[in-house]
Amino acid sequence: MHDLPPRFWPIFFELYESLPRQGPGSRACTGKALELCRDLPSAPAILDLGCGVGGQTLHLAELTLGTIVALDNHVPSIDRLRATVAERGLAGRIRPMVGDMANPGLPPKTFDLVWSEGALYNIGIENALRVCRGLLRSGGYLAFTDAVWRKENPPPEVKASFDMDYPTMGRVPDALASIERGGLSLIGHFTLPDAVWWDDFYTPMELRIGEMRGKYSDDADALAVLDRLAQEPAMHRSYSDYYAYEFFVVRSKN
Ligand SMILES: C[S@@+](CC[C@H](N)C(=O)[O-])C[C@H]1O[C@@H](n2cnc3c(N)ncnc32)[C@H](O)[C@@H]1O
Repeated sequence: MHDLPPRFWPIFFELYESLPRQGPGSRACTGKALELCRDLPSAPAILDLGCGVGGQTLHLAELTLGTIVALDNHVPSIDRLRATVAERGLAGRIRPMVGDMANPGLPPKTFDLVWSEGALYNIGIENALRVCRGLLRSGGYLAFTDAVWRKENPPPEVKASFDMDYPTMGRVPDALASIERGGLSLIGHFTLPDAVWWDDFYTPMELRIGEMRGKYSDDADALAVLDRLAQEPAMHRSYSDYYAYEFFVVRSKN
């Protein structure tokens, strides 16, 4: 992170906060993972950790009859989700909340389902699995996505990119071993199709980067940041066969 251009974070947040979601995922994948949670009560108590602006939170509200606590530590994302929830009349179903998933301050053994798309790695997967397990009712489910390597020897720019954001990223068997060590039972897992990296994430990101290039056309620092941010979808276009997002559905044993 030491070689970031000046004004990286404000421009990064301006871009990311405007996107429909902040990572790869889709309603269909959320639905597919949800179908694996076969014994949920009819109106489950759900916790969505690292919800961002709530892309998957809103899908969970459509796909279940449950109530959802949606937690993220980035205040503007929670503000945006609060506005969406109010607009859509979902205040009785979704409670957006600013908080740290490492220490969410929620009562233990409360949730039938803990959900997290692309966020748990921020506090270390094994630590996150321990936190989630403590929040689940006996027999409750945890569904989460995590980035994984698919091939050995990624090109240096791909390795460098993930080393900066997720240096401990492993392969699917590594994640399965963490799940086993965390005292959770595997129900199933699947790889997110490549289209979901684009539909609600990289395609709107590239469009927005184009708009922001116009807005900042006289601002060399901002343009340098946008060039840097544009490298991520460009890298994915060339090297997506080296890495993927995997959805894991697991269950508390007790
Ligand atoms: C890759 S984004 C995924 C957002 C959303 N789940 C989605 O798929 O669109 C990761 C999210 O985790 C949040 N996050 C990172 N560390 C966190 C922490 N310690 N506590 C709560 N949220 C955190 C970030 O603010 C960000 O919104």
